[in-house]
Amino acid sequence: MQSTETSSTAPAVRIVIAGSVDHGKSTLVGRLLHETGSLADGKMAAVREACLRRGVEFEWAFLTDALQAERDQNVTIDAAQIGLRTPGGRVLLVDAPGHEEFLKNMVTGAASADAALLIVAADEGWREQSRRHAYLLGFLGLRQIKIIVNKLDRVEFSEPAFRRLQEDGRTYLKTIGIEGAEFIPVSARAGENVVAKSPAMPWYVGPSVLEALDGFTAPLPLDDQPLRFIVQDVYRHGERRIVAGRVESGTLRLGDEIVFWPYHKRATVASIERWPVVLDSAGAGDSIGIVLESSAFVERGAIASHPRDSPIVSNRLHGSLFWLGRQDLVCGMHCRIKLGTQDVLARVATIERIFDPGRTFDGETATGSLPRHGAAEVSLELRRPLVFDRHERIASCGRFVVQMDHEIAGGGIVTRGEYPGERRETKSANVTESRGLITAADHASRHGHRGGVVWLTGLSGAGKSTIARALEGELFTRGLLVSVLDGDNLRRGLNSDLGFAPADRVENIRRTAEVARLLADAGSVVIVALISPYRADRAHARRIALEGGGDFIEVYVNAPLAVCEQRDPKHLYQKARAGSIRDFTGIDAPYEEPEDPEIVISTSQFSIAESTDQLLEFLLPRVMTVAGS
Ligand code: ADX
Repeated sequence: MQSTETSSTAPAVRIVIAGSVDHGKSTLVGRLLHETGSLADGKMAAVREACLRRGVEFEWAFLTDALQAERDQNVTIDAAQIGLRTPGGRVLLVDAPGHEEFLKNMVTGAASADAALLIVAADEGWREQSRRHAYLLGFLGLRQIKIIVNKLDRVEFSEPAFRRLQEDGRTYLKTIGIEGAEFIPVSARAGENVVAKSPAMPWYVGPSVLEALDGFTAPLPLDDQPLRFIVQDVYRHGERRIVAGRVESGTLRLGDEIVFWPYHKRATVASIERWPVVLDSAGAGDSIGIVLESSAFVERGAIASHPRDSPIVSNRLHGSLFWLGRQDLVCGMHCRIKLGTQDVLARVATIERIFDPGRTFDGETATGSLPRHGAAEVSLELRRPLVFDRHERIASCGRFVVQMDHEIAGGGIVTRGEYPGERRETKSANVTESRGLITAADHASRHGHRGGVVWLTGLSGAGKSTIARALEGELFTRGLLVSVLDGDNLRRGLNSDLGFAPADRVENIRRTAEVARLLADAGSVVIVALISPYRADRAHARRIALEGGGDFIEVYVNAPLAVCEQRDPKHLYQKARAGSIRDFTGIDAPYEEPEDPEIVISTSQFSIAESTDQLLEFLLPRVMTVAGS
């Protein structure tokens, strides 16, 4: 990148220029640069001279092309940014050469921007590309968008022509959730309304493009957000280990206690360096090396946070995906997910709400596959745990790239995912982790399957225990090592000190998850049957299981409350209605349905045998390591 703004106190607004090829992006940028005096001395004269020599008429786009060519020689990132002086200060214009590059730069985050100008030519109107770009801007969460209606000279500066385009635009933008965008009539080539107000369009009373640029607001400082430190590499210098990486958000200070995810390695920061300077603290955007007090094992891909503000750790990712792949995306396909420096194998589990902005003004398509340049809500099953954030919470750790056949095939933002409840830290500082000699692979090769946790959640009476027992039988007959942890049973022993107040349930789930992890570490498939009514607790259980290197599968055993109440096998609903039991889930205590479980079993629609079979069909391929067994 040619110029980067490192001052975190007053970041310049980054404005991306979008719009159909040939609608005048380069001309507008060229003119803005020149008329604001943002060009280096002699640049303009050189381009004019070159035109003379070649006997062609000067075009503003030549100027932008010349700058582009200059940048191409010394940058590796294809999104180029250009500093522009405005009456209010300075902004950065981000431009991408063509349609494909634009889409790619936007979805991969190479062209991350705070605001956008979308250019639409008055004579051609809203083209498919204009719509796709608008859609993508909205998709990526950009809300500061201004529409430049260019080439007004081609329609005799006609107000009705401008208004028509504005109406069409507003209708479309509304369908994709963008409202209130400002429209500016311009002729970039003739310089009308670019810097100064145009006498050719007296009917227009709004700002010129340059004035409008100052109307965008700068992003909030990232330093105040929760800390995310992405590990790029770990270097050894004798005993000393330097963890190199980048602070994406938040502030890291000397002496801070931090945790590296996904494997929960806690450590204290002994020194921070940005070679050759030693620092007291580092903020968002800083690439640094840190030395830790203890010798925690940390690898590339890990993300560190402060203990209280941890990211999500999951083997399941749910987000909005913008698809650029050559072939349509369908369920079951395999791909790689890249997020920060993490790179994991994934399988597409669900594709929903498919949207193809090119098709019609409302765009929704009915087919089950996602076409190139379309978008959808997808769930992905990940081979290894991934550390991430929801995009609305921390944008940089909530953005992922999809690769297929070594090519960038899409990009998306994380829209769901539960932040686990706060973790109880070890009370004593004098405990150290001991590691066994037998690895998960050793267990797996003896038993022919991996260990893992199958977590059944649902209302009382939904059928969790019954299915757990049926599944246990099926797995046992197939020779798998299996155990069941059932809520009622645990509450008679290990958890006999716990009731049903929220804090007790949290502890109930934490203990059970820890036991499940130990058993899974020993190679067992552990079936847990707990109401586990809170999402955050289930996310916590998932994280505990994944830390052990095992699998975690959330099963929503679903039956409507009315059905459970009618079944009432233990007559507890009856008691709860009568008021003799308090805090009963579904009656006077909440149940938070899973948002994105691995599998949903509807026990009001299927028999126990059918439900168990559905679960078995999902589970076996996931845990078996020996083909055909
Ligand atoms: S959890 O919410 O903490 O996960 P858990 O699954 O261990 O609950 O225990 C639920 C079982 O305890 C129910 O199946 C039911 O038999 C019994 N129980 C007794 N009182 C309650 C209550 N107030 N709410 C829910 N379950 C209760």
